[in-house]
Formats: sequence, structure tokens, C-alpha cells
Amino acid sequence: MMHKRLLSVVKCKLTLMVLCCIFFTAAGHAERLSQAQINYMLQCQGCHKANAKGTPPDTPDMTEYGAAFMQSDAGRAYWTSVPGAANSPLSDAELADVLNYIAISIIGAKDITPYTESEISLYRSQKMQDVYAVRDQLIAEIKASSEANLK
Ligand code: HEC
Repeated sequence: MMHKRLLSVVKCKLTLMVLCCIFFTAAGHAERLSQAQINYMLQCQGCHKANAKGTPPDTPDMTEYGAAFMQSDAGRAYWTSVPGAANSPLSDAELADVLNYIAISIIGAKDITPYTESEISLYRSQKMQDVYAVRDQLIAEIKASSEANLK
């Protein structure tokens, strides 16, 4: 009898622990996301606008090719190395969160691999000479491969 009660107390405590874990993990995630959103508003939105559509042709519309850029190493390096991103005061982890926020929450890109802190630190150290030329080259490659896929 005693044993049974003890067991149910243990069970109850375990359930509580699991619930707490779920709650705090969810809360932690929400906090990270909103921090990324705040960083976007403070550091990027002035030029890129809340919807990431910018003011083309000077500030590109990120919703146009953003999801496609996220699919290749060269595209991911480009997104990280543009001056607005690379030279921002954000840490590598914060920049990873902001770029993921843009891609997932603003653009709504599906099936993408989120940036990690170490990926950002690798790309960020590679300075890019002519970002517009790199962008044009990437778009040409994306168009060529989507045409090849249609054939
Ligand atoms: C002063 C204006 C300005 C600010 C602030 C700015 N950017 Fe940009 N961004 C640009 C311009 C202009 C380009 C086009 C390439 C270039 O000249 O750097 C660009 C290009 C980009 C691109 C490439 C988009 C594409 O699809 O071609 C990304 C990604 C990007 N910026 C991210 C950011 C992030 C993240 C921040 C904030 C941490 C930021 N930018 C802040 C002006 C800005």
C-alpha cells in the first residue's frame, strides 16, 4: 500500500519535471525568436523594411531569391558576407538567428537548413569584393538549374 503511494508521488513529480522542461524549452525558444526580431528591427529593417522587400534596385528584395540562396553554400556565404550583415554589431550567434528569422519567419522559406554560429563565423571572415556581381552570378546559376530541372 505504502509502496503504491510512493510510486504515484514519484510519477507525479516526474510528470511535473517533464512539463516544466517542455515549458521552459518553449519559453526559451520564444525568447530567442523575439530577440532576433528585435535585432532585425534595430539593425536591418531601416533599409530592408519590415517585409524584407527593401527598395530595389539599391536594397534588394530578399523575398525574391532568399529561399533559393539558402540552398547552396555560395548563396549562404553571400547572405552572410554582405556588408549590412557581416559588419553589423551582432555576434555570430545573433547574426545566425537574425538570418534564420528573415528566411523562416519573414520570407517563409520551407525546407531550409538553419544557419549555425560556426557557419556564420566561417563565411563572415571571407570579405566579398563586388556583392552585386556575386548576386547576379548566383541568380544566373539558380535560373540555369531550374531550367535544367524543367527539361
Ligand atoms: C544601410 C542600409 C542597410 C542596412 C542597415 C542593412 N542592409 Fe542588408 N543590404 C543593403 C544593401 C544596399 C544590400 C545590397 C548589397 C550591398 O550593397 O551590400 C543588402 C543586401 C543584403 C542581403 C542580400 C539579400 C539578397 O537576397 O540579395 C542580406 C541577406 C542582407 N542585406 C542582410 C542584412 C542584415 C541581416 C542586416 C542587419 C543585421 C542588414 N542587411 C542591414 C543595405 C542594408
